[in-house]
Amino acid sequence: MNTINYLRSFFPGRTEEEIIEDLSLLGIDKETGEDIVTPWTVQSDHETGVDYDKLIEKFGSTRIEEDLLKRFEKITGRAPHRFLRRGIFFSHRDMNTVLDLYEQGKPFYLYTGRGPSSEAMHLGHLISFMFCKWLQDVFDVPLVIQVTDDEKLLWKNLEVKEAIKLAHENSKDIIACGFNPDKTFIFSNFEHIGNNPEFYQNIILIQSKVTFNQVRGIFGFVESDAIGKIAFPATQAAPALSTTFPFIFKGEKVQCLIPCGIDQDPYFRMTRDVAPKLGLPKPALLHSIFFPALQGSRTKMSASDSTSAIFLTDSAEQIKDKVNKYAFSGGRATVEEHRKEGGDCEVDTSYQWLKFFLEDDQKLEELRKKYTSGEMLTGELKKELIDVLQALVGEHQKRRSEATDEIVNKFMVPRDLGFALNK
Ligand code: TRP
Repeated sequence: MNTINYLRSFFPGRTEEEIIEDLSLLGIDKETGEDIVTPWTVQSDHETGVDYDKLIEKFGSTRIEEDLLKRFEKITGRAPHRFLRRGIFFSHRDMNTVLDLYEQGKPFYLYTGRGPSSEAMHLGHLISFMFCKWLQDVFDVPLVIQVTDDEKLLWKNLEVKEAIKLAHENSKDIIACGFNPDKTFIFSNFEHIGNNPEFYQNIILIQSKVTFNQVRGIFGFVESDAIGKIAFPATQAAPALSTTFPFIFKGEKVQCLIPCGIDQDPYFRMTRDVAPKLGLPKPALLHSIFFPALQGSRTKMSASDSTSAIFLTDSAEQIKDKVNKYAFSGGRATVEEHRKEGGDCEVDTSYQWLKFFLEDDQKLEELRKKYTSGEMLTGELKKELIDVLQALVGEHQKRRSEATDEIVNKFMVPRDLGFALNK
């Protein structure tokens, strides 16, 4: 499969030059069949996409199994989120440590982030935030959200002012996910670093413990890369250390839990190596699979093609049109054939997206059975997805319109989030 087209399907909005640059950056041999997953590239030559079992093995993380979900339910008294039930968050590091702490009434905190590369956020960008919102509700813990405008200046050649503006605009979409303002701190790296010496101090401490050889091994940096890129991983690592936020944690050493896409794991492999050297706990992680593109992973997408994803600004009509026209179908060529052979849910974007967004397990299973048996046609399945997406995006837009600049500023003030060492 053509690597560039495949990559495009994961990164709608990325130009061909950017993708080629990524590939050469990593020195990827396009002839080998190995999945390559770094923060900048997701490459797979497999028909159904990335082989997640292999990835777990390669990264050395642990699959989220039934027993962990059972323990989760027992301790929290809450049924696991659909993302956990359906293997969307599929891998972890040290989640049992976090549950131990919770069981003992000891604190931990959540950390996630967003690279504000453009104003147009799409559905895939919401996954981690939706999940964090739920975790925050279940565990009632502080959440810090890093918006990496500095990263996007380095990788996307944005101007400083433009990057900061995007950080604020994207924060509105983040806030629209419903975070508790009393327990959530959002920060732009560019803005926060100046007045918060502990942040910068931790960045430098981390930098002092990581060699160029290590980051080259982890991220594939080459000698012609800007030094800012080589130093940046420390900036993404720092929020995983509680001492970065003295106004929240008062200098205490607190366990961190990071929900993120598996592509972000390289940053935190590095962080987990460094944290003990600085006398702090290794951050725990929950990893999600990638959100599939509307066209599935087989069709060519163009950077300037707004039909490649559902954006959070799309109207109900646009959602309907895009799904009907572009959602890859696992259905058969003719109705007769479909009735006889049935559809293939594994490659069908509508079904795959419903797995992310349809809450009702019974209904999802019913749709799967009906589609697989051929009783249900592609158009009918698409209709189910359209209904779910229109409701979801419509509600998001309503909440986003309420997230004014003033509210964004409130989330961005360094402040006490009611953290207590013992509950
Ligand atoms: N680098 C991430 C991106 O480009 C943003 C980010 C910063 C992040 N800190 C994080 C993502 C922590 C997940 C967890 O999107």
